[in-house]
Amino acid sequence: MVLTKLRGLPEGFLWGASTSAYQVEGESLTHGKGPSVQDTKKVPEGTSGFTVCADFYNHYKEDIALMAEMGFKTFRFSIAWTRILPQGTGEINQEGIDFYSSLIDECISHGIEPLVTMFHFDLPDALEKKGGWSRRESVDEFVNFAKILFENYGSRVKYWLTINEQNMLTLSGEAIGTTSFEGVTNKYKKLYQENHHMLLAQAKTMALCHEMCPGAKIGPAPNISLVYPASCKPQDVLAAQNFNAIRNWLYLDMAVWGVYNNLVWKFLEEHDAIPDIVDGDMDIMKSGKPDFIAFNYYSTATVEADLSANDEESSSRDQQTAGDEPGVYKAYKNTNLPTTQFGWEIDVEGFRATFREIYSRYRLPMLVTENGLGAYDTLTEDGKVHDQYRIDFLRKHIEQIKLAVSEGCEVMGYCPWSAIDLISTHEGIVKRYGFIYVNRDEFDLKDLKRYKKDSFYWYKKVIETNGEDLSD
Ligand code: BG6
Repeated sequence: MVLTKLRGLPEGFLWGASTSAYQVEGESLTHGKGPSVQDTKKVPEGTSGFTVCADFYNHYKEDIALMAEMGFKTFRFSIAWTRILPQGTGEINQEGIDFYSSLIDECISHGIEPLVTMFHFDLPDALEKKGGWSRRESVDEFVNFAKILFENYGSRVKYWLTINEQNMLTLSGEAIGTTSFEGVTNKYKKLYQENHHMLLAQAKTMALCHEMCPGAKIGPAPNISLVYPASCKPQDVLAAQNFNAIRNWLYLDMAVWGVYNNLVWKFLEEHDAIPDIVDGDMDIMKSGKPDFIAFNYYSTATVEADLSANDEESSSRDQQTAGDEPGVYKAYKNTNLPTTQFGWEIDVEGFRATFREIYSRYRLPMLVTENGLGAYDTLTEDGKVHDQYRIDFLRKHIEQIKLAVSEGCEVMGYCPWSAIDLISTHEGIVKRYGFIYVNRDEFDLKDLKRYKKDSFYWYKKVIETNGEDLSD
């Protein structure tokens, strides 16, 4: 399909950008905040921990003023569960409630809609120590936290996101620092039981949001990217369908339709990993519906069939690529795609293909809650950051949004990662994503002064013209 006529982006398009509490705030164990799993995990060698980050906790007024200068219509941030409930349940930390209250007011005073993620990789450590999401109680613990948020902020926050990248917590928890398999005999059983509880917590929270905050909208925020087959061999196509189901559709089929994806169900049966499902669970899954689908997109994935899975040779393989699933699919390097300085594939058309696929399956408006380029930025002596590579990356992705919209996809907004430099999940501050540069190094905190990157000025113009002018 060649499109000659591009439709403009809808009025009220939510231009903005994203952050998460543990990666940006700092003050990680002060002001009454309890430790989360991000504070207690072992930080990869050579990268800083999360105690100071961008010190957003102390700079948020200045930072939001900069976002307002760029013209943000929304700002996606997360609320640290342990700033509100230091132990995950029980006593509330009033200072935490007040901090987010003031942050929300600050956004609103600048005409910026707060877009709040309730949970972004930072489970309270006190709950993790009891068994975290593997316990049935975790469902109500999360819903209790959500209720406190709705009570305190529900009249001011119109857009809510439940769980950031639940699929990555399941598939890549070790890299994110949220999963350990110590003493676990069946890792699939553990992961998919946790996943079942998160899905229940999400469904209950979506229903509660509609009950407590009429007019508010809520949705899940998984990381969705289309999976390509490595070739047109039918076996590769089947492998890609398998991985699409495991990586993407499990999460959205459940959030939208309240059903387990059939291919994933089969996969779980084969691994003796069907979660314990209590009577009434599937009714709960159907009771909470999302108003939109938020998703994070960085790149597509490509897989081929793993036809040797039953051979002795393959079952004794000890160097499995992280993305492989023996007998189900094997990760494949897509040589058609360029990569970032950090080795991540860049696939702009894949972004559009992902929109098309999500929309044709679920017919719900979509909101991009992450997309961006991690790079080694340099601050010049005269305080500039020439990040033309980031501008090029974002421009090409926004072009694809316009194409997707012209093809009939409903897109509500675009919030790249990240509004401001912050600490990467496991690659430190040197992997920068922001429009705003934060003057610090990995271990030398310098003065944490903010500088506007070239992409800052470019994005301001993009927003001003509602995406019409994407030129330099
Ligand atoms: C997403 C996460 O997976 O990717 C963010 O929601 C994360 O928390 C972002 O920072 C980029 O990944 P990384 O590993 O480069 O920080």
